[in-house]
Amino acid sequence: MNAHSYTPTAKLLHWLMASIWMVAWFLGAAAVYMREAWNPHHGLTITHKALASTLLFLIVVRVAWRLTHPAPALPASMSAPMRRAAVLGHLALYAAALLALPLSGWLWSSVAGKPILVLGLFQLPPLTAPAKEWYDLAKLAHVTLAWGTGALVLGHVLVALKHHVVDGDGVLRGMLPEARAGRSPGRGGETAAPEIG
Ligand code: HEM
Repeated sequence: MNAHSYTPTAKLLHWLMASIWMVAWFLGAAAVYMREAWNPHHGLTITHKALASTLLFLIVVRVAWRLTHPAPALPASMSAPMRRAAVLGHLALYAAALLALPLSGWLWSSVAGKPILVLGLFQLPPLTAPAKEWYDLAKLAHVTLAWGTGALVLGHVLVALKHHVVDGDGVLRGMLPEARAGRSPGRGGETAAPEIG
């Protein structure tokens, strides 16, 4: 554990949501762009919605946890503009990738009059009555958010890798499971410290 460590619950929520998000992204894209070969009976679309819709519940738990368990401090080596960029980037990930994107999918299915079966277990209530006139706009919102947040998440992954490989600080290790997080002290040379986030 190092001074930049998140709590085990925060790590679990982060990696669970990250895995669901990435699988959902590729399922959504495959449903659209491989429709004839892989999605002739809408199986991929149904699986995409069943999985992606769980993010709407997990985000509530995640935000509640985050508000009651502040994130660990960023490394002192980061400049003020970089700190501001990190805070804004994380806010954008929460707001756009984890909230607006699933909400836009929910809206799209609602205006199309199509059901969303969360994990195949129960149905989400529609946000609106079916409305053909809003179909194109809802679709555009979901597709634009899907590609925009795809770029955002890619940037997030690259910045995390830069922290680890180039800066050698504890930022990425602070989000890794315990055994891996404790393996090497890194160039920042942090010593073990109590978990603070
Ligand atoms: C309640 C949650 C969601 C619902 C109801 C939903 C619904 C849909 C639907 C109906 C499609 C079109 C599939 C088809 O035409 O066969 C789609 C496409 C897509 N979705 Fe979602 N979605 C949700 C969440 C998400 C999330 C969280 C992501 C990202 C991780 C995502 C990424 C995509 C992508 C990349 C596409 C393809 C976009 C394109 O046309 O280029 N969706 N979604």
